[in-house]
Amino acid sequence: MEKIKDIRDFLNELDKIGELGQVEEEVHWRLEMSGIGEMSNRLDDKIPLFNKIKGYPEGTRATSDPYRGSHGALHRRIALSIGMDPNISYYDYVEEFVDRLNHPIKPILVDKGECQEIVHTGEDANIFKHIPVPYIQDGDGGRYIDICTIIAKDPDSDWNNWCNYRIMVHSRNKMGVLFTSGQQTANLYYFKYEGRNQPMPVAIALGGLPATSHVAGMPIPSGVSEVDYAGAMIQEPVELVKAVTNDLLVPTSAEFVIEGVMLPGERVDEGPFGEFLGYIHGPRRPAPVIRVQAITHRKNPILPFSVSGGGHGEATTYLSSEFNALLTPTVLNSVRKLGFPVKAIVGPETNSYASVIIATKVPYKGYVKELAELIAAVPGPSMYVDLYWVVDEDVDVSNMEDVWEEIMLKAHPVKDWHNFGEREAPRSPLNIYQTAEEKGTLRLGATVAKTCKCYIDATTKEWDEKTKGPRRMEFETLYPAYKDWVEKNRKDYGLPTYKDFRHEGIPWWK
Ligand SMILES: Cc1cc2nc3c(=O)[nH]c(=O)nc-3n(C[C@H](O)[C@H](O)[C@H](O)COP(=O)(O)O)c2cc1C
Repeated sequence: MEKIKDIRDFLNELDKIGELGQVEEEVHWRLEMSGIGEMSNRLDDKIPLFNKIKGYPEGTRATSDPYRGSHGALHRRIALSIGMDPNISYYDYVEEFVDRLNHPIKPILVDKGECQEIVHTGEDANIFKHIPVPYIQDGDGGRYIDICTIIAKDPDSDWNNWCNYRIMVHSRNKMGVLFTSGQQTANLYYFKYEGRNQPMPVAIALGGLPATSHVAGMPIPSGVSEVDYAGAMIQEPVELVKAVTNDLLVPTSAEFVIEGVMLPGERVDEGPFGEFLGYIHGPRRPAPVIRVQAITHRKNPILPFSVSGGGHGEATTYLSSEFNALLTPTVLNSVRKLGFPVKAIVGPETNSYASVIIATKVPYKGYVKELAELIAAVPGPSMYVDLYWVVDEDVDVSNMEDVWEEIMLKAHPVKDWHNFGEREAPRSPLNIYQTAEEKGTLRLGATVAKTCKCYIDATTKEWDEKTKGPRRMEFETLYPAYKDWVEKNRKDYGLPTYKDFRHEGIPWWK
């Protein structure tokens, strides 16, 4: 496989394996690109690349949910995008990913970047004219940029934070961004720049080396630059170049870069937006503003976007893949470093951001509570997820039926369903069950957003030493040698063996 240096190389690799759907007919940015994208997600179809977009110069392109995986293998295209074999098992992927994350690599600065092949400043820095931003769902508050890398710098140190927050385009040079306190760039803006009455320069990279978008959605600790982890993912330094109108450093491989400034105290209404949980909902409310100063781009640029959350059971969107292939492995890495022997952390395919399942060894009494408390507090789950299901390490977490069975059989209704009580802490305001009052205001999200973290302990409890308690009836646990004998006999009798059935397909864990 060729080395993947940008989103174009990635799309070429998809094409080679028959997973790119090139659309040559002209499509509209209003509902049409997103409608086609959503149906591709739903059908688990190829990734659409729109080569002709109404009202945009020839060569301007867009792609929907380019990194989404497929049913039963949410990680596979993200794996491909960072140079791994897309057919790698989920478990092997996670171990390789975590190993790479543990070797961050600093970026290198270069003088020129392809992302600045074409530069628009002043009156010509017009989002609507140059970037085919989609109107994604009927009912959205406006046209939205959703897959992006927002770059901002801590005014007190060398730390550059990269993050991915949704951005609504209001006019040719004005955008509103969903800054929820508790998130790092939101905190930089509210508590440092705005707190000191200073403008915050920003740059927003769209497209580019896939790892540069992936890191923006990952829970990387404050004070640590995401770009070092993008380097870790591809095992070489990421190339950066100075922005045209400010001193921020942007990835050279970006398809578009929007440069701008966020003034203290400025707000514009933002929302509603069809979000990852599968619902469009409000409130529409005042959000901080990005004033656009320049747009730079490559020739024939490609805008990636996502049609997030298509509703129940529609698992494969970029967000569900991102959650399981980028976010939870990062959390797994952190909790393992603290000594917790966790085997896997995943979100259910049907709605990854709504809860997480944790498969773990249980080394001592009281461990599950400690682990649940920790996961409820780490960045990522703490902002989004209120419900944690803890199961034994041998449970196939990709199979919700297996997980349900564990809960039904092993979680004692009195002793094993727990909640930590109402708490006021940073929390994404997008949950369906939160009332408007519980969602708080954006600025005060950190203090007003009420939430309650819960966990179900469905692990095997300590059994009486004498009786050893119930044992699961499976070949593997009761009589492994007998299994080989049965397998041999089935083969001799011309019946399919267990191995024949387990060749590929559904289980992405084993
Ligand atoms: C496509 C996409 C859209 C997202 N939109 C938002 C958003 O609007 N607001 C937000 O706070 N987080 C959003 N997130 C989640 C953050 O990117 C994620 O929590 C990340 O870790 C935040 O980075 P930070 O901790 O450096 O602030 C989004 C993630 C993705 C992948």
